[in-house]
Amino acid sequence: MKAIQFSRFGDRDVLEYIDVPKPFPQNDEVLIEVTASGVNYVDIRERQGIYQRAETHVGKDKGLPRISGLQVVGIVNEVGPTGDQSLIGEKVVALIPSGGYAQFVCAPSNTTVCLPASADDALIAAMPTQGLTAWLMLKASTQLRSGESVLIHGAAGGVGSLAVQLAKSMGAGLVVASASTEEKRAFAHSIGADVTVDYSLPDWPKLVLEATGGRGVDIILESIGGDVFEQNFACLATFGRYIIFGSTRGPGRPFEPRRLMQKCQTMTGIYLPVFLAKPELIRAGLTDLVTQVLKGKLRAQVAAILPLSKTVEAHRLLEERLVVGAIVLDPRIP
Ligand SMILES: NC(=O)c1ccc[n+]([C@@H]2O[C@H](COP(=O)([O-])OP(=O)(O)OC[C@H]3O[C@@H](n4cnc5c(N)ncnc54)[C@H](OP(=O)(O)O)[C@@H]3O)[C@@H](O)[C@H]2O)c1
Repeated sequence: MKAIQFSRFGDRDVLEYIDVPKPFPQNDEVLIEVTASGVNYVDIRERQGIYQRAETHVGKDKGLPRISGLQVVGIVNEVGPTGDQSLIGEKVVALIPSGGYAQFVCAPSNTTVCLPASADDALIAAMPTQGLTAWLMLKASTQLRSGESVLIHGAAGGVGSLAVQLAKSMGAGLVVASASTEEKRAFAHSIGADVTVDYSLPDWPKLVLEATGGRGVDIILESIGGDVFEQNFACLATFGRYIIFGSTRGPGRPFEPRRLMQKCQTMTGIYLPVFLAKPELIRAGLTDLVTQVLKGKLRAQVAAILPLSKTVEAHRLLEERLVVGAIVLDPRIP
């Protein structure tokens, strides 16, 4: 089968479009013939050898050669000896630890969800990692209660935009969305944010306090870091929950955990691959997300569909931040 593989960490030219042996399913795994494979920014960091998983650190040769790719849609071709053979022929979406940049990939059956034949392959393949991160933050890291207020940073991004929509659908009383440009804030409004703030303004937390009658928000979903990490505390309510899922501007200054005592606040972090150890949650989240996308209640964004052979171009578009939404690879396009 064809796959995109790298045998050393580095720039885009380490990605090779080559023939590799087709995998075969173990235990209850399913072998999926891929029709759409979603690209994530972490795939680039993995290729560069700077992703935080042990096997992809620079200087380590563990895990090489490697086929990236965390999320696919396709048709089940085979099922492992202990699996459910009735899945053969079904269209599915799967969250996988790696291997999605290929014509075929094996997926654990417990992180695979069936789709109707009519489902839009690219639209569904665009969403699992970002959607599950948003879903798990609001359902597992904390439980958003009806009427609560949420501040979502980077709200025009993949995780942020899905989190805005999920928070509204879960009954949030107020969704405050931050983004750096007028256009991105207008987009955040269009998908349901009640209030938007420009977090490049030094006193942006005041706007959040104004929007919440001075009490601050119940939940903050934080992915920015830098100064924003500290500024968040100025607009987090008493009993507020602070959830960290990224740091696009770096980690910020050291933090003294005892300050959380003053307002009985909670801080937690989330890293999606760790949740592969809780497949029942992955499956529940993926099922809910797919249902909402299929009903048109959740808007995932496909920026481009490219042949698998053009993965180098997909990485370039993402690295140069030339796309809004996800890029999807189609191994069937020559
Ligand atoms: N914890 C997990 O398991 C997990 C899973 C998926 C993603 N993530 C992390 O979540 C964050 C968002 O991921 P995503 O897939 O939603 O990314 P994305 O679609 O590229 O969106 C990222 C948003 O972050 C904002 N941002 C602020 N400073 C930035 C900078 N210096 N460079 C780039 N963007 C910047 C941008 O919004 P503005 O222009 O409005 O500032 C952008 O819209 C990333 O840090 C990613 O690593 C974590």
